[in-house]
Amino acid sequence: MLTRLLLASASFLAAWQLCGADVVDQQFVGGEQQVFNVPESVLPTTKYVVVLDASSMNTRLHLYDFAISPSGLPNYKSKKFFRPNDAGLYSYISSWPGPRNVTAGAESLRPLIEHAKKLIPAEVHPETLLVLRASEILHAHPAPWPQRLMQTIHSWLNKTENVPFKLLSDVAQIIERSDHLAYVWAGMNCVLNPEGNRDVAVITMSRFDTQVAFLPQVELSGYQAAPIQLGDKSYPLFRTSLPGTDTTRITSQILKSLVRNRTDEELEQGHMLASGNGVVPVVPNPCFARHNEQYVTLEPDVKVLLKDEDAPANDPVGPYIMSGKGLAEFELCAELVDEHMRRIPLFNETKAAIPPIPETSRVLLTGAFDAILEPALLSPEASLDASELHVTTVRKIADLARLFCLGAAARNSGYTQFLNAYNKLLEERKPSWCLDLTIVHRILVLGYGLDDSREVMFGQKVKGLETTDWTLGVALKAIMDERVEILRE
Ligand SMILES: *[C@@H]1O[C@H](CO)[C@@H](O)[C@H](O)[C@H]1NC(C)=O
Ligand SMILES: *[C@@H]1O[C@H](CO)[C@@H](O)[C@H](O)[C@H]1NC(C)=O
Ligand SMILES: *[C@@H]1O[C@H](CO)[C@@H](O)[C@H](O)[C@H]1NC(C)=O
Ligand SMILES: *[C@@H]1O[C@H](CO)[C@@H](O)[C@H](O)[C@H]1NC(C)=O
Repeated sequence: MLTRLLLASASFLAAWQLCGADVVDQQFVGGEQQVFNVPESVLPTTKYVVVLDASSMNTRLHLYDFAISPSGLPNYKSKKFFRPNDAGLYSYISSWPGPRNVTAGAESLRPLIEHAKKLIPAEVHPETLLVLRASEILHAHPAPWPQRLMQTIHSWLNKTENVPFKLLSDVAQIIERSDHLAYVWAGMNCVLNPEGNRDVAVITMSRFDTQVAFLPQVELSGYQAAPIQLGDKSYPLFRTSLPGTDTTRITSQILKSLVRNRTDEELEQGHMLASGNGVVPVVPNPCFARHNEQYVTLEPDVKVLLKDEDAPANDPVGPYIMSGKGLAEFELCAELVDEHMRRIPLFNETKAAIPPIPETSRVLLTGAFDAILEPALLSPEASLDASELHVTTVRKIADLARLFCLGAAARNSGYTQFLNAYNKLLEERKPSWCLDLTIVHRILVLGYGLDDSREVMFGQKVKGLETTDWTLGVALKAIMDERVEILRE
């Protein structure tokens, strides 16, 4: 009975299967086997998809190779990557150095197409899909240039003498930054959740914010879904951004607040150190490792969020010495971080609108999280299904933060392992690792409502793919959209 229920619920969840081998137990999979409603005979066994990523300084080629299972599920096999030395589409519609030339922009894709032609067996060129996605930064140029460029590219690609591959109707498009994470979600679920039964929630950190994308529990209505459409299927994703919750921003605000809070009295008490260029004030800081002092240079802040908003007098800049001596502690630091996060405009409201990440979901941290967590791991553990990813728990991140806050004063268990990890860090970053780890912990707990026992995965790569890569999601969408276009014809 129990088995039956479990299988039944697995088959229900498998409704969100994105790719991977066929689900074995057909009895319970039932109708879900016909996910794509495409006659078997139409499906190839190997499918190539070329994604041209024009989101960076140059246009890159991502070539995906999928095995198509008998029931039509694409199974990610491998990927090839190529980055030529071109100037990037952006430069062809820039007024400087100019002149703008959209034809030359389209022509700039030729080396990429030639490269793809060599990588893909000639007999499958006609059924190989090609899509180009450009970044919304193109919109920084005045109309009509971005549109004209995309139209010219579309026409250029749609000439068989230029491109021997198959194009879908939306072959060349500009995508929004906010859509990237939905494609990362699709790609990572394809790789890490091939059976579609344990959603992988993705939380990423950039220089501006953190963002989340996951499938909430279906019975929870009332949240703002931002579905992603792949072929005839709409995946009811929840996604949102928590602006300002990145380590750089939070760090700068906490340091400034600490400087501001120092009383004149404290200054007079001679908390100064002689340095090469005069005297630098020492600022007690509960978030910098306890055994250490560290120079920091505070840069002017565009908007001073605390106290008087517009008073430059309240925006301390220049050199300070941050000292965690006799003070630094994870719990104190966490309070400070929480207080600052709560003051970020819209933080409370946005956070309140995030539905719980289901207990059954696994959590993948991508982007800037990895650079903070990975070097701090005392005894890296590899996950079972993806050797390149690390697995830890939210509690263990707090434990690490606790150790790094105490710094060399942490003479307790794990000290030797801690020293091994600590000694490998960049000298100037050592004292601030306490703050970075604390911020990561508070983002997960306060921002995204994860509890201490929650497991999180992180790492730069999985199965050869960057965990921030959105192009696999775009390739999957192309495969599924093609089927819808075939059925329409
Ligand atoms: C634009 O580029 C094309 C192809 O590179 C070139 O043939 C054409 O002369 C250029 N047009 C202008 C106005 O520079
Ligand atoms: C390519 O051009 C042909 C002929 O004009 C047209 O029928 C087809 O829809 C075009 N394909 C795309 C993807 O625009
Ligand atoms: C600065 O002082 C305010 C008001 O007393 C307090 O709420 C805040 O936590 C202090 N900030 C820091 C960084 O200590
Ligand atoms: C957010 O909520 C906290 C309490 O949960 C409160 O102290 C803080 O003032 C709120 N922030 C804003 C900007 O409303």
